Amino acid sequence: MSAGNSRIVETNQTGIHEQLGELVNKYLLTQNRKPIQSHTQQAFDSVLAWLGDWQGDIIFDSCCGVGLSTIILAQRFPQARVIGIDKSEQRVGKHSHHCDTFNNTSQNYILVRADVIDFWRLAVKQKMQLSHHFLLYPNPYPKKTQIQKRWHGSSSFLDIIALGGVLEVRSNWLLYLEECQFVLKKLGHSSTLSAIDAFEPGFEPLTLFEKKYMNSGQVCYQLETH
Ligand SMILES: C[S@@+](CC[C@H](N)C(=O)[O-])C[C@H]1O[C@@H](n2cnc3c(N)ncnc32)[C@H](O)[C@@H]1O
Repeated sequence: MSAGNSRIVETNQTGIHEQLGELVNKYLLTQNRKPIQSHTQQAFDSVLAWLGDWQGDIIFDSCCGVGLSTIILAQRFPQARVIGIDKSEQRVGKHSHHCDTFNNTSQNYILVRADVIDFWRLAVKQKMQLSHHFLLYPNPYPKKTQIQKRWHGSSSFLDIIALGGVLEVRSNWLLYLEECQFVLKKLGHSSTLSAIDAFEPGFEPLTLFEKKYMNSGQVCYQLETH
């Protein structure tokens, strides 16, 4: 991943996807009956074992990549247990390297390789309730035909809502977050959308993608539910 030359997201959409509302209506009437993949079931079981009888705050860092944000969040929320989840074995495998360079000593987090689609379903079934849920720089899938690949355009978004807590989504593509805000509003949740001020004193990028976009002079945005 090189710094300073990231391309801006290009789309053939001119605004919020016109089928988004209909898609959400459809998801509200259907149930995902696909079997859970065994590797995600195992990852989920290992997280439950790690949590033990933990009764305090639980934070998900979904699609965490190498898990740099998971370390930072664990340090920012020392009273919570933070769970970083990513499906890429390669990215999760690079975590220890970032751990060393970050001089990390936090014990209140775990990183697992799993598919969040199944992981979220299992967490909902377990009646898990989160204090915070971070979804940082999800793949944008900017083509109009890819709407159902964006998290807010997929049935998984209902699981995200069911998990509760403050949801924070970050992206360098404003329309992604405007669409996400549209779906949140439709489902009865208010949120605030703003540009991230990289020049604020003490600001540090939360993820490698955030760092890369900012080094390329792109504006990054955050959407936070209330
Ligand atoms: C653009 S990267 C962002 C990574 C990290 N959050 C960051 O900002 O550096 C998107 C990440 O989402 C992960 N991802 C995509 N679909 C996923 C899924 N279904 N389950 C788990 N991780 C997924 C990818 O493996 C990738 O690491």
